[in-house]
Amino acid sequence: MNHDLRDVMRSFATGVCIVSTYTERDGVRTHNAITVNSLTSVSLEPPLVSLSFRHDSEFFAELMRTGVVGISILGAEGESTARAFARRRPERDRALSEVAGVPGEATGTLLFDAAAWMECSLRDHVVAGDHVMVIGEVLAMGAREAQTPLIFLQGGFHRFELEQV
Ligand SMILES: Cc1cc2nc3c(=O)[nH]c(=O)nc-3n(C[C@H](O)[C@H](O)[C@H](O)COP(=O)(O)O)c2cc1C
Repeated sequence: MNHDLRDVMRSFATGVCIVSTYTERDGVRTHNAITVNSLTSVSLEPPLVSLSFRHDSEFFAELMRTGVVGISILGAEGESTARAFARRRPERDRALSEVAGVPGEATGTLLFDAAAWMECSLRDHVVAGDHVMVIGEVLAMGAREAQTPLIFLQGGFHRFELEQV
């Protein structure tokens, strides 16, 4: 049986985030946000995280220009938000006008109703095959009490009640 990396990584459960950045032209700020599951913690001191984007992603190009990214780690109730921000740009723009996002104090990037959040400045990036791994330094962060997380596994969204094993 032939498998590719996607087939293998389907078995690796991840959380789900909305990442946001913006462009600014003539003083007008236009926000962009997409759904990602590539968030990884990299370093505690200094606090660093990584995200991976398709190298031809419009979002990545904007992030390289602005140098800041907001990360909202979704709880289970964020499933429809995750679906909305995985669509094409015009549909995501519509979602941005419907889903309340609040500009973070450290970066101005939009943060959404979430289990936890971070605001990061771009520290480094590494081109890796057809993706680019971005390293962000965490400038501000917060978390709510533990709640049912949104999980991406086997190509779909899942929720499960927290039960320590
Ligand atoms: C669960 C899930 C996880 C995703 N994770 C990533 C990711 O880590 N990196 C990425 O570039 N796109 C990811 N996507 C796709 C983006 O949400 C989005 O569709 C795409 O990157 C938008 O490309 P654009 O910036 O060129 O418009 C994910 C989609 C889903 C549904």
